[in-house]
Amino acid sequence: MINLYWKNATEKVVGPEHGLTSEDLAGVAPSVEAAHAALMDQVRHGQPGYTALPDHPSYPSQVKQLAARFRENTTDLVVLGIGGSALGAIAIQNALHPATYNLISDKKRGGPRLFVLDNVDPALIADTFKCLRRRLETTLFNVISKSGETAETAAQFMIVREMLRERLGDKFASRIVATTDAEKGTLHEIARQDGYATLPVPGDVGGRFSVLSPVGLFPAAMTGVDIDAMLAGAVAMKQRLANPKWRENPACVLAAVKVLMFNRKGKPLHVMMPYSNRLYMLADWYRQIWAESLGKRLSVDGQREVFTGPTPIKALGTTDQHSQVQLYREGPNDKLVVFLEVDKHPADVRIPDSFADVDGMAYLAKSKLSKLLAAEKSATEYALAVSKRPSVTLRFNGITPQSIGEFFYLYEFVTSLAGEMLGINTYDQPAVELGKQATFALMGRKGYEEQAKEMKPILREDKNYLA
Ligand code: PA5
Repeated sequence: MINLYWKNATEKVVGPEHGLTSEDLAGVAPSVEAAHAALMDQVRHGQPGYTALPDHPSYPSQVKQLAARFRENTTDLVVLGIGGSALGAIAIQNALHPATYNLISDKKRGGPRLFVLDNVDPALIADTFKCLRRRLETTLFNVISKSGETAETAAQFMIVREMLRERLGDKFASRIVATTDAEKGTLHEIARQDGYATLPVPGDVGGRFSVLSPVGLFPAAMTGVDIDAMLAGAVAMKQRLANPKWRENPACVLAAVKVLMFNRKGKPLHVMMPYSNRLYMLADWYRQIWAESLGKRLSVDGQREVFTGPTPIKALGTTDQHSQVQLYREGPNDKLVVFLEVDKHPADVRIPDSFADVDGMAYLAKSKLSKLLAAEKSATEYALAVSKRPSVTLRFNGITPQSIGEFFYLYEFVTSLAGEMLGINTYDQPAVELGKQATFALMGRKGYEEQAKEMKPILREDKNYLA
């Protein structure tokens, strides 16, 4: 279960210049209520597409069937994908398995090791494949691409396909699962011709909203995550978020706080700071959904330039107390911090009573690390508040498949509401597309010759500026 605590973002704690006043809240009410009503209207028709994923009639069973087939004979699972096709799998893996998961022996681990290759850094790819060389026959590659044409994923896939063909000959196709558009696209076509097992990326769900589709579910199921429980968490959150009383609805409150902080309190930077290593990659997932969905040049009707979007930042408690908090407290007052806090951690450790006579250490004796972590979080929250820096906290009762499912759905919904309130199209990413096309042009793809010409004046190197 996740709850939102937001008093530290109000004038009661950080004063009226940086905190939300009752006037601010009264002022935002019509906008958040209208955004919620508009969104719920779409939800009733299964839109936006991600809202239909928690209780989808067939995806979970499709995923479980395929996972059951491959779990038997797979020691290593390698996800080839980037952006929305990778970040969900990384976040789930990081949250629901120990950090040492890949180091556990095959017998004890209970599922394959997981590698998510979300870059084309040659050293990353070479090192990973070197490590898998002796286990290639039992390695499964899950290539995930909605468009089927993203250069990074396409390149990785081509390398893997050749590697498998060399080693396994005719049987190479049996070690690839393609997650892609069910009806069209380059990868779809290749999967059909080569005969891979496939899973669908729903046509109406963008990459960054796809974690609860087969995109995120298959890698999770392969490593033994209870995907039914994760989806049940998302369903429970979906039901909670249907509540039209906005002050009782955590998504509405969070969207309202964030939009007010951005529009009225001079807080364009929105930090997510989990006090849990397990939850750290949720912050990475959040960075993408927030940035790609809300960072937009045009208004939703395409008529006005608005150049909007709060900048998402990730930080880790307590680690970044010793790196970022100096800036957060004394630098520009331009940030809203969203803490993630855990009531019951998956494991705990008691500090021994080793130095009863040493003042600088004795106070720690016999406490659990969870207590120290919680105290550090409260201390940071307090220190920020003293400097009039607003924060809110998302409280997780535990790190379970349920709470992770809740989190994903909550933040997807908050993103949709914030997009409505900011008056932009939450679901496109025109600026990302240009980068993809420019890469095609630079790599000599047919049909992109004009694009290559256009790019020359900017990319031509000028030695006068080499220092
Ligand atoms: O959210 C998005 O739309 C993007 O981040 C995509 O997920 C990313 O660019 C990868 O695209 P594709 O799945 O088509 O390879």
